[in-house]
Amino acid sequence: MLIELKNITEININAFQNDLISWFKSEQRDLPWRKDQDPYKVWVSEIMLQQTRVDTVIPYFNRFIEWFPTIEDLAEAEEDKVLKAWEGLGYYSRVRNLQSAVKEVKENYNSKVPSTPEEIAKLKGVGPYTAGAILSIAYGVPEPAVDGNVMRVLSRILSIWEDIAKPSTRKIFEKAVRELISHDDPSAFNQALMELGALICTPTSPSCLLCPVREHCHGFHEGVQNELPVKTKKTKTRHVQLASAILLAENGKIVIHKRPSSGLLANLWEFPNVEIVHPLQADREEVAGQFNQSLNLSVKLDHIIGQIEHVFSHLVWNIKVYTGKICSEFVESDEWRLVSLAEMEEYAFPVSYQKMLKLYQEQK
Ligand code: ADE
Repeated sequence: MLIELKNITEININAFQNDLISWFKSEQRDLPWRKDQDPYKVWVSEIMLQQTRVDTVIPYFNRFIEWFPTIEDLAEAEEDKVLKAWEGLGYYSRVRNLQSAVKEVKENYNSKVPSTPEEIAKLKGVGPYTAGAILSIAYGVPEPAVDGNVMRVLSRILSIWEDIAKPSTRKIFEKAVRELISHDDPSAFNQALMELGALICTPTSPSCLLCPVREHCHGFHEGVQNELPVKTKKTKTRHVQLASAILLAENGKIVIHKRPSSGLLANLWEFPNVEIVHPLQADREEVAGQFNQSLNLSVKLDHIIGQIEHVFSHLVWNIKVYTGKICSEFVESDEWRLVSLAEMEEYAFPVSYQKMLKLYQEQK
């Protein structure tokens, strides 16, 4: 580990902190979660910002805080409403874990987010990054908050050539932050690294000429900023072919189904669908037969109205979209509902099925 951090001894740590923090104070974006240091709001924002861009998060954050302004409000909310607030953001286990953890804070910590690394790290869904972000931003504790963006920035500044795709590499960067972080203002220091990664030290073609810490940057001096960070390619994505249908009942309402309580997109709603294992053999009759067999739905399918592609981190769905009718009596249950288009707005659907509904409405 000593080898990877050899450049840290050559950095003038005080000057580095000053340059970084002064830049942050004058250039930081005006973001809704920066209005106060409420640990709950910092927590919500950091969970939303994992895997999701700032511009996308802003309206979700504002609405989430409007619907669930406090720990108690979120702890006591119906899961369906919480999922609805997250609809479209993806990675829904983030919000299920957030709600479980918030319930624990309400029960065991008198609704106050704990302020020690040991306690906060025990909360569901709070990994080392989120723990460090909440502790530093909300409580001013000098803990590292290292995510992929911070690793990119520091790999350049310190010329660290470890593979950032390897989980064990994060520890190397945490050690670096522990040595570099300002104890006067850990919040500004960590947020400044994030802001630098977002505005200047971007993944491709970093704007070194505008960088407030260029003078301290080994990657820049060595001319290798574009080669860093080292990040090996992820494993191949799996492709899954699905057939799904907008199925009308006699009363004109549409069939929707609640997904299982664990696994991908757990507890979100969808249109009935089946996986097509042999795409070449899957004509309309065959697909209708599969609806009957796998879902116990007797259906008459019309034509295909289009196809939807949806890309997850390790998986691509290709959905053939049918319209059709239910042919036998339909019994509603916890998982199966008949809803009008207006009623559908109350249910949380993954983006792929929102796209499918849009396709249907455009063609109707
Ligand atoms: N990315 C992750 N955390 C962030 C924050 N607090 N502000 C802006 N971008 C971020």
